[in-house]
Amino acid sequence: MDTHISEELIEKLRRAKSVAALTGAGISAESGVPTFRGDEGLWKKFSPEELANFDAFMRNPDMVWEWYNYRRKIIEEVQPNPGHLALSKLEEMIPSFVVITQNVDNLHQRAGSKNVVELHGNILRNRCLSCGRIIESETLDFSEGVPRCPYCGGMLRPDVVWFGEMLPEEALQKAYRAAETCDVFMVLGTSAVVYPAASLPEIAFRQGAFIVEINPEVTPVTDFAHVSLRGKTGEILPKIIEAFSK
Ligand code: APR
Repeated sequence: MDTHISEELIEKLRRAKSVAALTGAGISAESGVPTFRGDEGLWKKFSPEELANFDAFMRNPDMVWEWYNYRRKIIEEVQPNPGHLALSKLEEMIPSFVVITQNVDNLHQRAGSKNVVELHGNILRNRCLSCGRIIESETLDFSEGVPRCPYCGGMLRPDVVWFGEMLPEEALQKAYRAAETCDVFMVLGTSAVVYPAASLPEIAFRQGAFIVEINPEVTPVTDFAHVSLRGKTGEILPKIIEAFSK
């Protein structure tokens, strides 16, 4: 299990003007947020076909909301872990640093990261199906079932990207630009199988970025990563910060 943090990796980070970090559910696993495809993953227990797509929501909005409220409760009860905190530290130490996250759990922002690109939305926000407004969670009234938009009365849905839906255009363009221009591209806690997010490491590699992966398991990125560390982000990222700060 390669967890050695090489001098080459630290040197690449020290010389980098711009670093981008793509994160997935794995970076939040040590906080207690379930991943999707791990042994205890959400998709082992729940079917994305029934819960994470628009048709399923229109068929049974109460069930979908019940599931998102279950996930919100988990997320509200956990804390960012040393992996999240390390990235917010790196943002202070590197001229241009961006977190591109597939996670909807808001934990990067709670850890202090400022430059966060949310590719799949944010579970703590809601969107009106009719007027498109974003409605903050704490105002939601579930007393009469599916919550309604306080402005137009339309049905509210969680502001996350479901399977088969387009990613938010602005976020996607920011992510592509970061992958096309960064010196170092970090791939942290993602199985790298869901596109278009999974295309970002390849784009960065092709333009000459130094690719660093951290994951207890091998992924499709492992083949072309310059450094692939087999371990947990919450354990390895703080060590990278320590070595970088020396
Ligand atoms: N540190 C680093 N990586 C970890 C850790 C950890 N502590 N624990 C698990 N992992 C790794 C797993 O080995 C796996 O490769 O994190 C990865 C999690 O993969 P997935 O569960 O597939 O999650 P993710 O890649 O974020 O999924 C992408 O799929 O279901 C959709 O929209 C959802 O954003 C999600 C997207």
